[in-house]
Amino acid sequence: MKPFQGLFFKEVCPWWLAWTFDNPLRRVIHKPEAIVGPYLHEGMTVADIGCGMGYFSLAMAKIVGEGGIVIAVDLQQKMLDLMQARAGKAGVAHQIHSVCATTEDIGIKDPVDFVLLFWMAHEVKNIPRFFGQIYSVLKKGGNILYVEPRLHVPDRRFQEILGHARQAGFQINDAPQVRLSRAAVLSKKG
Ligand SMILES: C[S@@+](CC[C@H](N)C(=O)[O-])C[C@H]1O[C@@H](n2cnc3c(N)ncnc32)[C@H](O)[C@@H]1O
Repeated sequence: MKPFQGLFFKEVCPWWLAWTFDNPLRRVIHKPEAIVGPYLHEGMTVADIGCGMGYFSLAMAKIVGEGGIVIAVDLQQKMLDLMQARAGKAGVAHQIHSVCATTEDIGIKDPVDFVLLFWMAHEVKNIPRFFGQIYSVLKKGGNILYVEPRLHVPDRRFQEILGHARQAGFQINDAPQVRLSRAAVLSKKG
């Protein structure tokens, strides 16, 4: 196995590693409002699955406003705790519902208008089940923004994951430009 291969390709990103990409410098390359803004509007219920320390969850809460909700989902309670602490400082904690997922269950019970999967799906153990569960909670007409880190996820793997999404009933509508990343916008077929 190559150095770090297990860490980056096969395992869940540990909370202490998240500081390497979720820090103030990140705004230079990933402006969250520009990346997710086109898919969101006030009052929406949206999900940030694999939210990590909440880089996107906080921005999404500001966009959907007081009438909206962000469901921030992560496998690691530590990530959710860090995310909620940041949300408290940003004054948006009351708009963010934390959900601690398991490897088999995304844990979302209510219908959502939009799902963000940012640099996380390559860590999911059971991808077909994962997209099947998203299919059952995403409202008709809603979008998924699916983004992977270009360095860690080769195009072959990205296409393989998109294949699972298609099999779950999604179609690919767009391939937006996101720095250092491969990205696709998905919605339910038909
Ligand atoms: C590389 S981090 C990205 C965090 C965040 N999306 C960002 O861009 O800053 C990936 C996150 O996905 C979470 N994760 C991995 N598999 C998951 C799953 N099946 N369900 C929910 N979260 C998951 C990890 O715990 C980790 O916090």
